[in-house]
Amino acid sequence: MKAIVRTKAGKALSTMEVQELPVANLLPYQIKVKMASSRINPVDIDLMKGMPFLKYKKPQIGGIDGAGEVAAIGASVQGFAPGDRVFFYRKFSDIGTWAEEITINASDVATIPQNTSITEAGGIALPLLTAYEALQHLKVKAGEKILIHGAAGGVGFQATQLAIKLGLEVVATAGERDFELLQKVGVRAIISYKTQDFAQEIKSKGVDYVFDTIGGEVLKKSLALQPKKVVSVHYVDTAKMIKTGVKLPVFLKFIMKMMMSKFTRLAKKYGVELIGQVTGADGDLLRQVSQEVGQMNFIVKPSKSLKLSEITQKGMSQKDLGKVILFTE
Ligand SMILES: NC(=O)c1ccc[n+]([C@@H]2O[C@H](COP(=O)([O-])OP(=O)(O)OC[C@H]3O[C@@H](n4cnc5c(N)ncnc54)[C@H](OP(=O)(O)O)[C@@H]3O)[C@@H](O)[C@H]2O)c1
Repeated sequence: MKAIVRTKAGKALSTMEVQELPVANLLPYQIKVKMASSRINPVDIDLMKGMPFLKYKKPQIGGIDGAGEVAAIGASVQGFAPGDRVFFYRKFSDIGTWAEEITINASDVATIPQNTSITEAGGIALPLLTAYEALQHLKVKAGEKILIHGAAGGVGFQATQLAIKLGLEVVATAGERDFELLQKVGVRAIISYKTQDFAQEIKSKGVDYVFDTIGGEVLKKSLALQPKKVVSVHYVDTAKMIKTGVKLPVFLKFIMKMMMSKFTRLAKKYGVELIGQVTGADGDLLRQVSQEVGQMNFIVKPSKSLKLSEITQKGMSQKDLGKVILFTE
């Protein structure tokens, strides 16, 4: 089978290469999946460049999420059968979805929403899981107001639709080209991050919550708005990192805490509860959100795609970020 493999450590996606590899043996607790699609997520870039505390397999197949069809199940697997349409997100310590066929722990896998195609599902697995869990942290009530940054992005667009489903009033930040899409799913207040200052726009009206997918100054300015809670995918809560399958050494925990301290201090100053979202492989949570999405009027934002044969010919680059790799022609 063909797989997209990391050929050099400490380099970007440009060193990824399509190679012919044997399919791994199916363990009793695993599922064999014929891959359909997988998004090139921001985290894939970091993972393929290399994280110092991660042990990479040799050869290391890229990719951390995706969707496909069950080809076979291990002896102790229940709840899945060959032919099922599934999607999944893996641990940092167990990456590898960019291949025609993979084996994956059944505990990381969920059936895809009934109203979502198999290609679309591979484009939203990690963003959907992230959005769902982050919103759960906020414990919102219908009628409250949430500011969602990057509301038309991978994580942001799933969060926007889920927040509306929860009865929240959404204020979105996005670029103008995404305004129409956001209006289509019911967002009434949209602020252009390119031409407007969201802090000025919100200031007097206030919001109950902020969902931050941008970090840096955007996170700082969001804390200054003094919502009740801010959930941020850029605020690293080191205690939660174990969910990714990685046990951070003490010195790295300390460095990360230091890096985050500018946000921690501001949250304290403004009396805001700041919650760090760290997404780990979690088939149960993915099954929950899949069921909810299946009952919603849910839209998957169209993404550019990349065929395996194109990667064989031209390789990959940073420009491919956000595209969905298609494993069947
Ligand atoms: N902590 C976790 O567990 C976790 C999990 C998943 C993702 N993440 C992180 O979450 C971030 C977002 O991921 P993603 O997949 O959603 O990325 P994405 O698909 O690239 O979405 C980012 C969105 O933000 C918009 N944007 C850029 N600058 C902005 C600004 N200043 N204000 C408001 N919007 C802005 C972009 O608009 P344009 O298209 O106009 O540029 C785009 O729509 C990444 O940094 C990723 O690493 C973390």
